[in-house]
Amino acid sequence: MSCLVSFCLSLWLAASPVRTSAPDEDISVLALLPRNNSYIFSISRVSPAIEYARRRLESPGLRFSVDYADSNCHNDALFALVDRAMGGRTPDLLLGPVCEYAASQVVRLASHWNIPVVSAGALASGFSLMRSEYTHLTRVAPTYLKMGETFYAMFEYFGWKKALLVFDDDKEERNCFFTIEGVHNVLIEQHHIEHLSINSKEFKVDLDEIMKFVQDSEVIIMCAGADIVREIMLAAHRRKLTNGRYIFFNIELFNSSLYGDGSWYRGDKYDSDAKHAYASLNTMTLLRSVKPEFENFTMELRKSNKKTGLHNGNFENVNMFMEGFHDALVLYTIALEEARKSGYTKKDGDQITQRMWNRSFEGIAGQVNIDVNGERYGDFSVMAMTDYDAGTYETVINYFGINESLQLLPGFNSDRFSLHGRVRTPEPLPDDPCGLGVSAVTGIIVGALLGTALLMAFYFFRKNYRITIERRTQREECNMGKHRQLREDSIRSNFSAA
Ligand SMILES: *[C@@H]1O[C@H](CO)[C@@H](O)[C@H](O)[C@H]1NC(C)=O
Ligand SMILES: *[C@@H]1O[C@H](CO)[C@@H](O)[C@H](O)[C@H]1NC(C)=O
Ligand SMILES: *[C@@H]1O[C@H](CO)[C@@H](O)[C@H](O)[C@H]1NC(C)=O
Ligand SMILES: *[C@@H]1O[C@H](CO)[C@@H](O)[C@H](O)[C@H]1NC(C)=O
Ligand SMILES: *[C@@H]1O[C@H](CO)[C@@H](O)[C@H](O)[C@H]1NC(C)=O
Repeated sequence: MSCLVSFCLSLWLAASPVRTSAPDEDISVLALLPRNNSYIFSISRVSPAIEYARRRLESPGLRFSVDYADSNCHNDALFALVDRAMGGRTPDLLLGPVCEYAASQVVRLASHWNIPVVSAGALASGFSLMRSEYTHLTRVAPTYLKMGETFYAMFEYFGWKKALLVFDDDKEERNCFFTIEGVHNVLIEQHHIEHLSINSKEFKVDLDEIMKFVQDSEVIIMCAGADIVREIMLAAHRRKLTNGRYIFFNIELFNSSLYGDGSWYRGDKYDSDAKHAYASLNTMTLLRSVKPEFENFTMELRKSNKKTGLHNGNFENVNMFMEGFHDALVLYTIALEEARKSGYTKKDGDQITQRMWNRSFEGIAGQVNIDVNGERYGDFSVMAMTDYDAGTYETVINYFGINESLQLLPGFNSDRFSLHGRVRTPEPLPDDPCGLGVSAVTGIIVGALLGTALLMAFYFFRKNYRITIERRTQREECNMGKHRQLREDSIRSNFSAA
């Protein structure tokens, strides 16, 4: 009998890994972020923002104990969670991870253990497309798919049809791969898309090859380091492709010191050419709003960063991750209070998660709107050169995700967004997009396609090929979708593990 009891007890223990003995008002939070300060979402950058939120949210009925663990942007995030659970310290809430591969493992396990995960990262499309595996994930920063919608809105508004997507794939964290995947998934349904993958870490960038593709396209969308973007723009300028016949974009969402003024400047002999070339280059960024309270937040964060010696002379701006993780704790608290009123506790992760979705709340910088899938509606800005002599940039277009509308600002010059000197031969678009929406079919196979192509390029053309090229019509994409063995989401096609 006692044997049976202890058997049952051990079963109960095994089956409920999320139970801890802490009272309901003590919320144990595990923040999974990299310790390495080369990440703009490192623990020392983001923790002051979380602490700021914690101080303001705590009340007699609510305390947070926040524990920080080094995700190392990879497996360590999962290990940190498992180690805590094994030690009987399973958290009630996870903040982060940001890196896609770290997040995909952690979120799967947390969803299984009924722990809510709120992140200002995990922006890849795979998290939306495979919702059933990531049921407990709420994203408080706009995802790459939402960014793709901004491009979609512009393509519609300006009547662009063809896009060339160029991305630098490091095959490790693959930020540019996931960024461009978001654009691809949204545009592919109604536009002619090609993509080029480069790997500047391993190979010299083949500018001639890229230019051949540029000539065939209309709108070139790039995700790469600032130096690579400059090389590409200079190459385009040398070939007279910056004459208005093509429109160039680079995507730079997070590090605000990288976009805008002076991004063309290097103090070398190409500066003048680069300035001319950049008159055709627009930058896609996050729309940042500020309200009075944000000032105090910024000051407090700067004070903390000064203490940790993070800033080197000039202060860093508050970035989306700092803002996002602050708002993550705010959102969680709203949902927790609501769940408690309905008789649930902090252990009802699914109930709390549901209450974070489909709602709007006041974040530190302005209103935050979360959609019915737990993803933040994205607001984005396009910056363009407005003073061609000085080479300075301004925001010219804003996009609001909540009402899907574009806002043209005073600096906007329609000439710079029109394709010049083109005789348009109408391209027949497939009338039957194989019966399924973009997210259902193309989304799932894109990751696999990109992954497969990269794999092939890597193994077969290792010696002499520098870029991977994909030309695919929508019809082919549809046919590919029928091969079920290709069903793989973008997160699983982890090239570095291959
Ligand atoms: C931090 O990351 C950078 C860039 O990935 C790397 O070069 C450096 O060695 C890392 N530092 C530590 C302490 O791991
Ligand atoms: C952001 O970009 C600037 C300009 O290139 C660079 O100096 C800085 O190190 C970047 N910050 C981070 C955290 O990557
Ligand atoms: C921010 O506000 C708090 C109180 O609301 C105040 O104690 C603190 O000094 C302010 N910080 C700065 C840097 O103004
Ligand atoms: C989202 O919230 C609105 C009201 O705020 C409600 O009418 C709608 O039914 C909700 N949608 C879902 C899917 O829960
Ligand atoms: C869309 O929403 C934004 C932000 O809430 C607002 O400023 C803008 O006027 C709205 N646009 C339209 C067309 O409703």
